Amino acid sequence: MNERAAAAISVQQLHKSFGKVHALRGIDFTVPRGTVMGVLGPNGAGKTTAVRVLTTLLLPDSGTASIEGHDVVREAAAVRRLIGLAGQATAIQIELTGRENLEIMGRLRHLSWSDVRTRGQELLDRFDLLEAADRPAKTYSGGMQRRLDLAASLLGDPAVLFLDEPTTGLDPHGRLQMWSIIRELAQHGTTILLTTQYLDEADELANTIIVIERGQVIAQGTSDELKDRVGGDVLEFTVVDKSRVDDAVRAVAGLSDTDAIVDAETGRVALRVGHRGSQALVQAVRALDTVHTETAGLALRRPSLDDVFLAVTGHAAEADGEQPPSRGRGRRRM
Ligand SMILES: Nc1ncnc2c1ncn2[C@@H]1O[C@H](COP(=O)(O)OP(=O)(O)OP(=O)(O)O)[C@@H](O)[C@H]1O
Ligand SMILES: [Mg+2]
Repeated sequence: MNERAAAAISVQQLHKSFGKVHALRGIDFTVPRGTVMGVLGPNGAGKTTAVRVLTTLLLPDSGTASIEGHDVVREAAAVRRLIGLAGQATAIQIELTGRENLEIMGRLRHLSWSDVRTRGQELLDRFDLLEAADRPAKTYSGGMQRRLDLAASLLGDPAVLFLDEPTTGLDPHGRLQMWSIIRELAQHGTTILLTTQYLDEADELANTIIVIERGQVIAQGTSDELKDRVGGDVLEFTVVDKSRVDDAVRAVAGLSDTDAIVDAETGRVALRVGHRGSQALVQAVRALDTVHTETAGLALRRPSLDDVFLAVTGHAAEADGEQPPSRGRGRRRM
């Protein structure tokens, strides 16, 4: 099978503008059947716009996209039968109970009443919502509402599932629960496109990742491939006396061609040092010694997706994406 035939999602040169805002500026990617694609990008990158075009909710200005070989514009009805969507804002009616929500969604998907009931019951059970099934959804926690929304998106047994920031706003427990559900769906062969602002989420769940920024794909590959692009290891340490961070950064600056990422709150410093291995460690110890700065946890590590983001965009992963590298915080969230 060639790549195109095995592709569950195929996107070529997709453009979409809203007035003067070019939300998508020629996006290309393919998602092989049965795999998870993570779409990473900061606020406003174009993630939701891409999802809305692929799920037939929005017409592109130009370019093409297809789901399982069906064009999202010309064969929108066929596409809708194949897909499920849990959008960035949940589609549930909070005045209705969980069970009623699933019944309505099921009927909208043209399932028979008996199928709706059986399938609804199964999904409520699977997503740990049986006990709450007959209470209004407004009494649910954020995590429960997300699970109900995801359950609704699965009513038609979609071959291709779109999840737009499925864990934003969830607490750590809710996120882990959602991750295990997503993993299970992937194991059963569902093709999943997942957008996220969390680097660790993409790292954890996605077979392939695309990083988009300002409507363009700026990097693409497996998590490991992206990390390899950073080129070598990252030296990391924490400066005990935070007022000395700048001195420490200056002392080790010569070990790298790029700026250090500094977290001013914790005093953590990360620096790309190439493939010099333990030699870089020895040099760092000496350099820090000359400025008499006490550090903790000095170590070499593999690059993280934060480092990838910095390498491909030239700035740290930050909410507004505008922070210069030396002031980047190296947080896990974009
Ligand atoms: N309906 C719309 N009308 C006008 N502008 C829009 C519309 N939808 C999106 N945009 C703009 O298009 C750009 C991309 O938005 P989009 O919602 O796709 O970003 P996103 O990556 O999903 O961001 P977030 O992480 O905040 O959800 C933004 O500049 C946004 O303001
Ligand atoms: Mg969005």
